[in-house]
Amino acid sequence: MQKLEQIYEGKAKKVFKTDDPNLFIVDYKDDATAFNGLKKGTITGKGVINNQMTNRFMAKLEKAGVPTHFVEELSERETLVKKVSIVPLEVIIRNISAGSFAKRYGVEEGIVFDKPTIEFSYKNDDLGDPLLNTSHALALKLASPEEIETIKKYAFAVNDFLKAFWSGCGVTLVDFKLEFGRLEDGTIVLADEISPDTCRLWDSKTNEKLDKDRFRRDLGGVEDAYEEVMRRMMGAI
Ligand code: TMP
Repeated sequence: MQKLEQIYEGKAKKVFKTDDPNLFIVDYKDDATAFNGLKKGTITGKGVINNQMTNRFMAKLEKAGVPTHFVEELSERETLVKKVSIVPLEVIIRNISAGSFAKRYGVEEGIVFDKPTIEFSYKNDDLGDPLLNTSHALALKLASPEEIETIKKYAFAVNDFLKAFWSGCGVTLVDFKLEFGRLEDGTIVLADEISPDTCRLWDSKTNEKLDKDRFRRDLGGVEDAYEEVMRRMMGAI
């Protein structure tokens, strides 16, 4: 597989064309941003961890019935994926109050919900990824009604899988963000990443934060937290 020209650079990953028009290569960086790019930094080794963690989860989710863009891990930081056009929705599932939910509704962090919540943001950096509901997404033609239903179904299935997996590692899955893409034929597949950048992960015993909130909130020990969750994952896989 030949890596050809870069077609996109995001905050945490670069995407390259390959000699197969249906396949892209994703290359994970150590760059970290928060607050829509306002805060910038580096988390050394993050790209390797996020690549390897994402791929292991994607492979397991495929087996659990959630189609994904994952094809093959090529190196520590590079992965071959199916070409998709990203549905411009950030899909957020929450099991426990934290982050923008706690802020928006004026509640403390750590309230365990009876049932997980789902919310969408419009993936648009210029607008600061505003929250929107299903009817807004439909009005803006960001996805069809069938696509939204499929995305919701897959997102809850991912939550069931990840919650159980992390629980077996002594980690509480608080919330996470997913992105979906469309293959050439319109099939919806899980894309992007599943990593400590995109999930809140708390130690089950101490509630210590083991994710990007350590960077967002200047808590220190960022690299150690990423390494710790990776270690726990590898012990359970
Ligand atoms: P929030 O509480 O800030 O809305 O974040 C919810 C979850 O989504 C959390 O696990 C972090 C993740 N997330 C991203 O992956 N990318 C983002 O740009 C934001 C704002 C959150």
